[in-house]
Order: sequence, then structure tokens, then C-alpha cells
Amino acid sequence: MRITRLLFCFVVFLVAGCEEADRPAETTAPAAERAAGDQPYVIGMSQCNLGEPWRVQMNADVKAAADGHDELEVVFKDAQNDTLKQRAHIEEFVAAEVDLIIVSPKEAQPLTEPVARAMDADIPVIVLDRRVLGDRFTCFIGADNRLIGREAGRWIARQLDGRGRVVELKGLMTSTPGQDRHSGFREGIAGTEIEVVFEADMKWLEPDARKEMESALARFDEIDLVYAHNDPGAHGAWLAAKAADREQDIRFVGIDALPHEGVMYVRQGILDATFEYPTGGREAIAVALRILCGEQVPREVTLGSRIFTEDNVEQGGQPLGPGE
Ligand code: FRU
Repeated sequence: MRITRLLFCFVVFLVAGCEEADRPAETTAPAAERAAGDQPYVIGMSQCNLGEPWRVQMNADVKAAADGHDELEVVFKDAQNDTLKQRAHIEEFVAAEVDLIIVSPKEAQPLTEPVARAMDADIPVIVLDRRVLGDRFTCFIGADNRLIGREAGRWIARQLDGRGRVVELKGLMTSTPGQDRHSGFREGIAGTEIEVVFEADMKWLEPDARKEMESALARFDEIDLVYAHNDPGAHGAWLAAKAADREQDIRFVGIDALPHEGVMYVRQGILDATFEYPTGGREAIAVALRILCGEQVPREVTLGSRIFTEDNVEQGGQPLGPGE
């Protein structure tokens, strides 16, 4: 087994990419040296909830990537959207002395300390999709939410010829994608005559988005477009508009672009656009393998995104480029 591990690390070195790193990642003792015997490396995967299809997909991506490696065992924990539970899960992984932790945090601030404590215990931590505060983690993997928000703003401004009344349904604002999708969007529409007439935190949840949209519809006779920070939010808003017989007068834009969610909504004419937000599950396992072999990995791995509209959905969307 030891030979298998060495061979496995050699292969990881051969196939490893060479992403650019702003700063080298904080290093911990290489697990390849620490672990001995026949036991596989144990990765603790802390998922903040499994109530949304996107997170189910993230876990499936992690599992599919890890399944190809006999040297890896992944233990999944679902915090059911409860921050305290997620903190406890990280502490349990540390107490169990897992070889590496992957965490997709619900909220930035409350998860920062348990992640730092795992690092203190020499357990490398990969943070996926939503960030923690500060720099006490090994590697962050996620798409550029500010860029996605900005591109969404610019695209919306073009669709509306630079003027109109918009509703913004925000993701949980104590999570970093919500903050970045908001600030990026405001940059994207800056200097136009687009007015955000109503904004609310729908906490990433379709039922909350639907309720908030009911309030927006009751208050405003004219709404041109809804920008929701995820596709469940955009769909919830569409359901509210449909119930009020107003869905034909309003355009809907979301983020995530899962094939059987956002992309399907674009095909069905429910959404005008969705921006891809990759789960990063596959990349997390690739980076985990490199860390477990004692290799230096980049501090950040930034994933790409695409826009899907009626015009490009059958061609697989259009990639977003920085500065486009
Ligand atoms: C799922 C989700 C996605 C969103 C991501 C942001 O919980 O809300 O829809 O893109 O989290 O972290």
C-alpha cells in the first residue's frame, strides 16, 4: 500500500496543473509522510446544506472524483443550513484527525474560527464556493462572484437599453457570494438609468424569493426585470409573477445554470439568462490529492463561468472572460 501511495503521488505530480498563485498556500505536514499502513486518506467534507440541487450536485461531483481513487475515503456531513451544526462538524473532523477537510461554509464569519483551529491541528482545509474571513485555510476554490454579478449587470443594462425598474433578490448577505453578486451587479449597472426599486435577502431559498416577490408585485405596477442571485430565487420570483398573471411582462435572470435547473428554465423561456456557477467538487478532489502528496498548491483556484440565453443555450452557453 505504501508503494501504491508513492506511485499515486508520483502520478499526481505528473498530471498536476500549474495554476497561478498570488501567494503560496500555507503548508501543513505532508500527509504522504504522516500516513502509514493500509488505511486510505480520510477527507471530511462539510456541506452547509443539501436542500438545494446545486449542493447535491457539489457532493456528487466530489464523490465521483474521489471514487476513482482507492486511496481516498470521503466522509460527508450535512449541516442542514445550521451554522452551529456546521461548526460542530468541523470540530468533529478535527477530533477524528481526518487527513484533510473540504468545507463549503454557510456563512463566512462563524466558520472562520473552526477552520483556523483545523489548520492549527495541521489538517489542511480546502474552502469551496463560499469564503471564510482572513487567510487561515490552505486553498479557496470558487468562481469569481463579483465578475459574474458585474457581467449580469452589464447584460441586463443592454437588454433594458440602459433604463428600467429592477428587483434584486439577494442571496444570504452573511455569505460571500451574496455580497459579491450584489456589489458586482451594482458596478455593472452604474452610470445607467436602471433603478433597483426593490431589494430583499431571500437567503438563497426559492420559497423566500417567492414571498419577497409577492411584496414587490404588490408595491410596484411596473417591474421590468428580476435579478436573483441564484436560479431557485429567480424561479421563485417567476412563480409569484405567474400567480399574479404578470410573468409575461417581466424578465428573469438567475445564477447557477445547472443543466436540469437554470439551463432548463432558459430552454422553457422562464429565465432570460442564467450565469454558470460551477460547484468545484471535481477540482477540490484534484487539489486535495496534491496537498496529500505534500505538494504546494495555489492559495486560490478561480473557476470559469458562462452565460446561457435563448440564443446560445443549444451551443452550450458563452464563456465569460475577465474584463469582457
Ligand atoms: C446553494 C447556493 C447556490 C449558490 C451558492 C452560493 O446553496 O445557494 O444556488 O450559487 O449556494 O454559495
